Amino acid sequence: MRSAELDVIYTRRSVRSYKPQTLDESTIRELLDAAVQAPTAVHAEPWVFLVIQDAGTLKRCSDRGKASWAKQADQHRDLHGVGEATARNHFAHQLANPDFSLFYDAGTLIVICGKAMGPFVVADCWLAAENLMLAANAMGLGTCCIGSAIPALNAPETRAELGIPADVTAVAPIIVGVPNGDAAPVGRRPPEILYWK
Ligand SMILES: Cc1cc2nc3c(=O)[nH]c(=O)nc-3n(C[C@H](O)[C@H](O)[C@H](O)COP(=O)(O)O)c2cc1C
Repeated sequence: MRSAELDVIYTRRSVRSYKPQTLDESTIRELLDAAVQAPTAVHAEPWVFLVIQDAGTLKRCSDRGKASWAKQADQHRDLHGVGEATARNHFAHQLANPDFSLFYDAGTLIVICGKAMGPFVVADCWLAAENLMLAANAMGLGTCCIGSAIPALNAPETRAELGIPADVTAVAPIIVGVPNGDAAPVGRRPPEILYWK
């Protein structure tokens, strides 16, 4: 019987349908404050954040992401949480639909970026991402990592549009919003223990 304190971990799901409500500044700041409480190698705190809420910017980033991702969709279909048998058709269909957003029409995209990349910067940014997602879940909000948007977020057009400096790299894009219904339960295999002595 697991303790109720762990519910925030066990009830987090990737949310792919959102209500059309925009998150306010204090909510976003609460999420960012939770994110930066993550462990950080040599206490570097090597992160900076993009908060994208403008519908036009989100659409342009999504369109760039769809174009770049269409070329690699077969290799990365598992990222989208769809079953093996139908994944290829499902994802190809989504990418071909001009109305489909890589960000599932969430009103907010938070991108955790690494300043000057070092050996632990990616780890730090993903730990911050998990903090943010668990905090969001505790606040009744939904999230989903959008790994498929990473190449587009680091593309020259996006860097120019958002004013991302050359030494900053987008690492962990997380959409956030008010869930539109409950996300389907997704199980896990039990931990496979390779060594314990
Ligand atoms: C690094 C990373 C990248 C991901 N990228 C995407 C993505 O581009 N689109 C998407 O719909 N889900 C994406 N996901 C979500 C996974 O599909 C999801 O976490 C997985 O299916 C397990 O479901 P759960 O998060 O509900 O437990 C990503 C997850 C991770 C960790």
